[in-house]
Amino acid sequence: MREVEERARAAYRARFGVDPTLVASAPGRINLIGEHTDYSGGFVFPCAIDRRVAAAIGTGTGGFYSSDFGEARRATGKDGSWADYPRGVVWALREDGHNVPEVQAAFAGDVPRAAGLSSSAAIEAATALALDALAGLGLSRTLLATRCQRAENGFVGVNCGIMDQYASLLCRAGSALRIDCRSLESETVPLPLETVGLALFVCDTRVKRGLGTTAYNERRASCERAAEIIGVPLLRDARVADLSKLEGTELMRARHVVTEDERVEAAVRALRSGDYVGFGQLMYASHASLRDDFEVSVPELDAFVEVAREVGALGARLTGAGFGGCAIALIERELAAPLEARARSRFAAAGFGEPAFYQFRPSEGAEIVAGAP
Ligand code: GLA
Repeated sequence: MREVEERARAAYRARFGVDPTLVASAPGRINLIGEHTDYSGGFVFPCAIDRRVAAAIGTGTGGFYSSDFGEARRATGKDGSWADYPRGVVWALREDGHNVPEVQAAFAGDVPRAAGLSSSAAIEAATALALDALAGLGLSRTLLATRCQRAENGFVGVNCGIMDQYASLLCRAGSALRIDCRSLESETVPLPLETVGLALFVCDTRVKRGLGTTAYNERRASCERAAEIIGVPLLRDARVADLSKLEGTELMRARHVVTEDERVEAAVRALRSGDYVGFGQLMYASHASLRDDFEVSVPELDAFVEVAREVGALGARLTGAGFGGCAIALIERELAAPLEARARSRFAAAGFGEPAFYQFRPSEGAEIVAGAP
């Protein structure tokens, strides 16, 4: 078992005095390319990271415990805390009429929080997989992902798309996942970075972004408006030629989405043919589009992408919702240290807060690691 899984199990035992019925865990994610396309039914290309949230679960009335926060919460109600995520998943499954018993659970994680690495999707995915097994529901992972999304949308109150929960449940180790967010079909694409001497280098700007903030919902509303003006159900169905029907904000937002969908398809092709240079170029183009047309970047993210370019990274872009959080660079392994050094001094000179840096390995999606029926 991984450290977080051991920790969740030990916390369960300490808190409830018995062993959990099962332990499940699920990863955070980074998105390689395809940003703000999921809620328009488009394409995304995330991979799971080697940071996870574990859930130790059993039936009972002992409530929820977080080993990270050292904090107990009731399993019912809603209070704006971390416990709303597992509560939301229970709620979403019961909404479907599933007979989900009353559960008690302990959680432990090592996904950096509020960094845009989907720690909330990880706790939802771990809870969903555990509940599915505990209650013998036999639901597919894709269906569980949609229920996790519904937990966010309908319970927590964040109007996110499907990418994060889907990635957390369905990504495979050593690979990225091309997801068609309309059909909900996906395809695992090998990401053999180590064998070609490359690394995914992640900069957490530590600029805190609240997904619940209106900016995300505003972007989503603009995309829906643009689709309506063009006369398609979702921007996924629009083409570049359709953009002439738009102006102002809707034009900018839709131009990003339509071109980003094309970039994802090109990036998947590039990766399959080992064209990392081409892949990197698409990352830079994605960042420019998110910065100029979708307007979700911040100076810290732009600064990291600029420094990455100066150091010779193949590509770099913000990842996740934007408004802060993380940027990623695709870079030769030996250039990671110089990139970090240069980014640190650029941030200091600009008077930005101190960033954090990570190198993640593309990892396995949610798993039941103990007590599988
Ligand atoms: C957040 C949301 C996702 C997606 C991204 C932007 O991570 O949770 O659904 O919209 O932002 O690509």
